[in-house]
Amino acid sequence: MFHTIIEPFRIKSVEALRFTTREERVRALEQAGFNLFLLRAEDVIIDLLTDSGTGAMSAAQWGALMQGDESYAGSRSFYRFQAVVQDLTGFRHIIPTHQGRAAERILFHSVLKAGEIVPNNNHFDTTRANVEAEGAEARDLVVAEGRVPALVHPFKGNIDLAALERTLQADGGRVPLVMVTVTNNSGGGQPVSMENLRSVRALCDKYRKPFILDACRFAENAWFIKQREPEFADWTPKRIAQAMFRLADGCTMSAKKDGLANIGGFLALNDDEWAERARTLLILTEGFPTYGGLAGYDLEAVARGLEEVVEEPYLRYRIRSTEYLAEKLVASGVPIIQPAGGHAIYIDARALLPHVPPLAYPGIALANALYVEGGVRAVEIGTVMFGLSPDGTESPAAMDLVRLAIPRRVYTQSHIDYVAEVVIKVASERDRLRGLRIVSTPRVLRHFTARFEELG
Ligand SMILES: Cc1ncc(COP(=O)(O)O)c(C=O)c1O
Repeated sequence: MFHTIIEPFRIKSVEALRFTTREERVRALEQAGFNLFLLRAEDVIIDLLTDSGTGAMSAAQWGALMQGDESYAGSRSFYRFQAVVQDLTGFRHIIPTHQGRAAERILFHSVLKAGEIVPNNNHFDTTRANVEAEGAEARDLVVAEGRVPALVHPFKGNIDLAALERTLQADGGRVPLVMVTVTNNSGGGQPVSMENLRSVRALCDKYRKPFILDACRFAENAWFIKQREPEFADWTPKRIAQAMFRLADGCTMSAKKDGLANIGGFLALNDDEWAERARTLLILTEGFPTYGGLAGYDLEAVARGLEEVVEEPYLRYRIRSTEYLAEKLVASGVPIIQPAGGHAIYIDARALLPHVPPLAYPGIALANALYVEGGVRAVEIGTVMFGLSPDGTESPAAMDLVRLAIPRRVYTQSHIDYVAEVVIKVASERDRLRGLRIVSTPRVLRHFTARFEELG
């Protein structure tokens, strides 16, 4: 009856924004070497750098913190956490970790050998880095549609099943497990269909391979399945999520996303021997298996967060608010990856700024302009992030994108309206934007700390 989708919460506790002037932001950016990672967060008005760990916890989660049992071993909070994760995923062994990459490191260090291959739709950067740290290959096999930014397709995160089968046929002996990332962060936050997951399961059965989900945004993926796969239209998001997990043999999870927590994660596995190896490594680097690098109160917050994240009003608002920003930008002719992903909008900076060549970093130019214009912090996902080879040579990344990641339950519709205004204004003055050059940089992960200067 009503079209407005209101935020499904009211606000009990607020954090003031510090409004800066344009002149202050110009100065702050210069001091940060034109790298938004080097700003002080208090100099940012709307922070869309990441959706990871930046969400707002609910009153129930804050209340649950006081229930935290800080016992070193056998904490009550662990058993509550384990019960919630098991109800959702059905996996036998639940191993808490301090965040997603710790789950990845423990899994891969336990089961991967040098020279092996891990197929995935798209590996997230930390997943790829952890695979490569074992001397193995991270092989990206997303469907062709997932590589075309402007193409509208319901499941651009799907893995290419024919390519996966070719890998399993040709190199099966070197594939210890198959991964699928839901939603596909590195491919624009695009969902994977249940049909695709079922087919991956069938291939894994045929070639006797374990199937592991990178489940960071499982609830957003479940919502897309509900909307876009008719078979699931009447299912609750929780039931869809349960069905997704039950197709797999385990998962890695960053609770900083769909755990609705500020820190936390887990590795879940069905295989007893793999779990045993993982727990041994966990004790070495994270902690005892009933806390895994987290406080008891963190386990409580994640347990409650996993219950809240599958609630239908939350997911409807979450996905709609991302789509709402996308609609405003598309209506004004701003080129973005379509359709909108679950957690973020990706602006095609190379298309928007054709006069800035990739090696003059159009993504950085655009992200910096959004900051100067309106105090909005986004992140370049392009040539600065991916263009440097280990041998020190530089080449353009496949795409130069600027990601606007939306923290969960933090910003209201008027904040999003403001962001759209800022982006549209900057896009209308695109000819003014100049490229940059790097003046100092580390050899790896340069996007975090490189310093730039603007070209004349
Ligand atoms: C798909 C995916 N996998 C893994 C990770 C790593 O999680 P964390 O940042 O908690 O280590 C992320 C984080 O953004 C992610 O998006």
